[in-house]
Amino acid sequence: MKEAQLIVIVDFGAQYTQLIARRVREAHVYCEVVPYSTPLADIAARNPVGVILSGGPASVLDADAPRIDPGVYKLGVPVLGICYGMQLTAHTLGGTVERAENREYGRTPVQFDTACPLFKGMPAESICWMSHTYHVTRAPEGFHSVAHSNSCAFCAMANEAQNIYAVQFHPEVTHTEQGFALLRNFLYEICRCTGDWTMSAFIDRTVESIRTRVGETDHVLLGLSGGVDSSVAAALIAKAIGDRLTCVYVDHGFMRKNETETVKKVFTEQFPVNLIAVDASDRFLARLDGISDPEEKRKRIGAEFVNCFADEARKLSHVRFLAQGTIYPDVIESGSVKGSAVIKSHHNVGGLPKDVAEKFTGGLVEPLRMLFKDEVRAVGEELGLPQDLVWRQPFPGPGLAIRVMGAVTRDKLTIVRESDAILREEVAKAGLARSISQYFTVLTNTPTVGVMGDERRYENVLAIRAVTTDDFMTVDWARLPFDLLAKISARIVNDVPHVNRVVYDITTKPPATVEWE
Ligand code: XMP
Repeated sequence: MKEAQLIVIVDFGAQYTQLIARRVREAHVYCEVVPYSTPLADIAARNPVGVILSGGPASVLDADAPRIDPGVYKLGVPVLGICYGMQLTAHTLGGTVERAENREYGRTPVQFDTACPLFKGMPAESICWMSHTYHVTRAPEGFHSVAHSNSCAFCAMANEAQNIYAVQFHPEVTHTEQGFALLRNFLYEICRCTGDWTMSAFIDRTVESIRTRVGETDHVLLGLSGGVDSSVAAALIAKAIGDRLTCVYVDHGFMRKNETETVKKVFTEQFPVNLIAVDASDRFLARLDGISDPEEKRKRIGAEFVNCFADEARKLSHVRFLAQGTIYPDVIESGSVKGSAVIKSHHNVGGLPKDVAEKFTGGLVEPLRMLFKDEVRAVGEELGLPQDLVWRQPFPGPGLAIRVMGAVTRDKLTIVRESDAILREEVAKAGLARSISQYFTVLTNTPTVGVMGDERRYENVLAIRAVTTDDFMTVDWARLPFDLLAKISARIVNDVPHVNRVVYDITTKPPATVEWE
């Protein structure tokens, strides 16, 4: 089956490089990020239909600034330089780059030359997002300015004959009003992309490559966490090799209401794999007995998880491959783009004991390795996985155990589980489930006085946490409507025993984290 057309994005260390890749994928063109140190021959061998040079924090005028092999401009495919990528292009091809008098930062009105294919169909002026200290003051031979602002004569330059383009601003961020249109113009008008990156094509190709890799008789083992990534990976592999896929689902007893049932149903009825669901809740609770320190709780849960998984894996003499739900941001962030292979440790199967790791003589199967999260969800939808699973909000590996402050008991877990279910139900009913990034309840470990009927009670304070964010590095608390909060609070104190006060967490991150522990 034909490979998708490829755009290579050369990374010079910009914080926005991943965003460029996401935008290109959103435009239905496949792309990969490679470090700037990648030899030109390797890039050429991939047969890209275009190359994008990313931004970066360095100054091209520094002696040790990252460079690019000038041969990249002679590969015979279009090149687009962005920010540092523009300065590097100018510098490499004989133009002049200088330090600007004032750093140009923020939303800036820019005039476009709409005769240039990069700006085709755009207004003559538009807001662009600038963030630079250096700028091009003289274009290399064969180039001319195709966009300017009040303070910058070269907001973009082009050499149409050689198909080399460069922009000083950031088309990948949403503040640049025509940014996505510009990237689309580069892809479709200049690189002549066909838009062949679709999830259904990805599924067909991946199923085929899993079959080739695993062969006709071998078996694969996957640690299923109930999260989006491992579930989609399981469904894809199941499509390729059916029940030669064994999934181990370790139920630590800290899952949310009905989650274990959903996983069991999906992977026995919809995607019939060889499912081993282990009820390990006694084992985990015993390991956490009397432990209240958050990091110690995490450590013990992580270690017990590996133990449980390893115990099951040892019983399976026939599996040769280990599958994981690693996704592209993990690959980029873990640095394996720079050449080192890293097993995703928070997937709970990293750090396996040596005897177990050695079983997997076939190696790793990571079908989602090149996908962004939104693409993983799209694959899940395309495969027909339930909406609840595909749109599941992030859920920490240690589960509800870190939402019970202090020592964990079965009763306390029930309080969090039941209140969480009410919160989820009401948020969904209000139609807000997809607009809030993460929301849950926390048992605070603070007793409080209340009155129920005529009786004075000394029970628990329960907190609601709901946040919005793009990346979970910084978050804002969600402005849930008061009426919705009122309804949730009333239902929780009525229906969940041992809770007589509900509070709403109105802290941003930083300084507070998303989880309370
Ligand atoms: P924090 O609390 O660090 O959370 O602001 C950011 C995101 O990470 C999730 N989280 C975890 N995920 N194991 C995980 O797999 C953990 O120990 C863990 N702690 C936090 C959290 O739910 C949020 O989405």
